[in-house]
Amino acid sequence: MLEYYFMDTLILCLVLLYLLYKLCTKNFDYWERKGVPYIKPQLFFGNCYDIFMFRKSIGLTLADMYNKISGPYFGMWVFNIPHFVAKDPELIKHILVKDFKNFQDRTIASNEEADEISANVLFIMKNPTWKTFRSKMTPVFTSGKIKSMMPLINKIGEDLVAYLTKLSNQSDSIEAKEVSAKYATDVITSCAFGIEGHSFEKEDAPWRSVGRDMFEFTLFNGIRSSSYFFLPKLVDLFKIKFVPPHVTQFMIEAFVKTVDYRKSENSSRNDFIDILIKLQKEGDFEGHKFEGNRVIAQAAQFFLAGFETTSSTVSFALYELCLNKSIQEKVIMEIKTTLEQHGSVTYEAIQDMKYLHKVVQEVLRKYPVLPFLDRTATMDWKIPGTDITIEAGTPVYIPMFALHYDPKYFPNPDVFDPERFTEETINSRPCFSYIPFGGGPRNCIGERFGLIGTKVALVYILSRFEVECSNETPIPIDFEPKTFALASKIGLPMKFIDIKRRPSYAA
Ligand code: HEM
Repeated sequence: MLEYYFMDTLILCLVLLYLLYKLCTKNFDYWERKGVPYIKPQLFFGNCYDIFMFRKSIGLTLADMYNKISGPYFGMWVFNIPHFVAKDPELIKHILVKDFKNFQDRTIASNEEADEISANVLFIMKNPTWKTFRSKMTPVFTSGKIKSMMPLINKIGEDLVAYLTKLSNQSDSIEAKEVSAKYATDVITSCAFGIEGHSFEKEDAPWRSVGRDMFEFTLFNGIRSSSYFFLPKLVDLFKIKFVPPHVTQFMIEAFVKTVDYRKSENSSRNDFIDILIKLQKEGDFEGHKFEGNRVIAQAAQFFLAGFETTSSTVSFALYELCLNKSIQEKVIMEIKTTLEQHGSVTYEAIQDMKYLHKVVQEVLRKYPVLPFLDRTATMDWKIPGTDITIEAGTPVYIPMFALHYDPKYFPNPDVFDPERFTEETINSRPCFSYIPFGGGPRNCIGERFGLIGTKVALVYILSRFEVECSNETPIPIDFEPKTFALASKIGLPMKFIDIKRRPSYAA
C-alpha cells in the first residue's frame, strides 16, 4: 500500500516537474522562430540569472550580451518572457523617436491600487493619461522656471560648503555619495516640497532618512524594484508597493501641509509647489482629473526620479576628478574665472562654464545613472529593413551602458576624457549612441533641472575644495548589483582638501 502511495506521489511530482519545465521554457524558441539572434537562455531565469541572484546589475548584464552578439539587435528572455534589445543607434532612434507611436509606454508596472502615488508619476504612468500629463508638466521644467529657483538652490550650495568645511576638518576620508545625497535631498525638498530638509544639520533628518529607506541597497528594495521592472504581473497580483508605505505617507503629509499653508497665507516662494497649485486651479487636463494623489505624485517624482540621479552624478563627477587631477585643475580654473566675471553663482554663469558641461557629459557617459531604457511595443512593429515583426506587448530594452562603452563610438571607453564632447566629436558619432537622459517624447523631463542641480553642487564644492583619493577610494569601482541605478558597492569615499587651510592660501 505504502509502495503504491510512494509511486503515485513520485509520478505526480514528475508530471508537475515536467509541466513546470514546459512552462518555464515555453517561449525559448521564440527568437529562433523569428530569425532574431539571441543568447541561449537558462532554465527559469532566462538570461537574467546574475541579475536575480544579485550578482551583476542589469546595465552590466545587458552590456555582456551586447558585446557577445554582433549585428543591430538581439533577443533575450526575462524568465520565459522574450525581450527585444536594440543595439544600433539608428534603430534606437526609430524606437524612441521616429516610431514613438508604437512604443509609448515603459514596461514597468503601473497599478494605482498597489501604489497610488508611484502609479501617477510620469516615469510609470501609462497612456493615454501619460500623454496628457506630460504635456501639462512640460512647461514646469523650462529654463525660466528653473532660473527663478536659483536662489533656493544656491542656499543649499552654501549649506553644502559649510557642512564640508566642518567635516573636512574632522575626517580624512569623506563619503562623497552621502554628501551629494544630503545636497540632492535638500534641493528637492526646497524646490519641490517648499520646505527645508535640514539634511546637513542632522544625520537622521527625516527627509534624508526617507531617501535612505527608498534607495538603500537592501534585499527588500532589490526585490521590490525587480518586481516592478521585470514582473509587473506580480505587482498586480500582490499589490506590491513601489515606495514603502511610510515614505508615501510622509510625502503626502509634507505636501498637503505646505499647500494648505500657502493657500491660507496666500504666500508664494517661486518653487514647483507654486506652479502645481496654479495648475491645480486650472482644473482637469483633457478630462483627466488633476487632484489629490495625482498632484502629490508630481512633487513626489522629483524625489523618485531626481534624487538618486542627481546625487549619483555629483559623486561620480567628484570621483573622476580625484582620479584626473589635470582635468580637476582645469574645471577649478574655469569656475574661478567665470565667477569673477559674473560675481556670483547665477544661471547664466553656470551656462558659461563650457568645460564643466563637457566634464558632466563625460561623467554621464561613464556613469549613466539609469543604465538602460525600456519601452513596450504597444502595436506590432516591423524592424526597419527586415520582415521581422516585433509583436505588440513585447518589452524592448536599450542597453545605454553598453552603448556608452562601445569603442566604436567612444575609443578607449574606460578613459575619462571630456574632449569627447567637443562639437566636432559629438557630430562625428551617431546621435543615439549617447543617451544619458533617454530620447524622444518620453525622455527625461527633468534634464535641465538635473544638470543645474549637479553643476551648482560641483561649482560650490570646487570653489572651496580640491578632491583627492583617500586610502578607501575604490579603484576601480565595483558596481552594486542590488540596484537598477548605477552605484558603487562601497560608496565613494575621498578626501576634501579645504584650500583656505593651505599655507599658500593667504599669499
Ligand atoms: C542627472 C540627473 C538625471 C538623469 C541622468 C536622468 C535620467 C533619466 C532617464 C535616462 C530617463 C528615462 C528616459 C527615457 O526613457 O527615454 C529619465 C526619465 C525621467 N526623469 Fe530623469 N534624470 C535626471 C534627473 C531628473 C530630475 C531632477 C527629475 C525631476 C523631476 C527627473 C524626472 C524624470 C521623469 C519624470 C522621467 C520620466 C519621463 C516620462 O516618462 O515622461 N529626472 N530620467
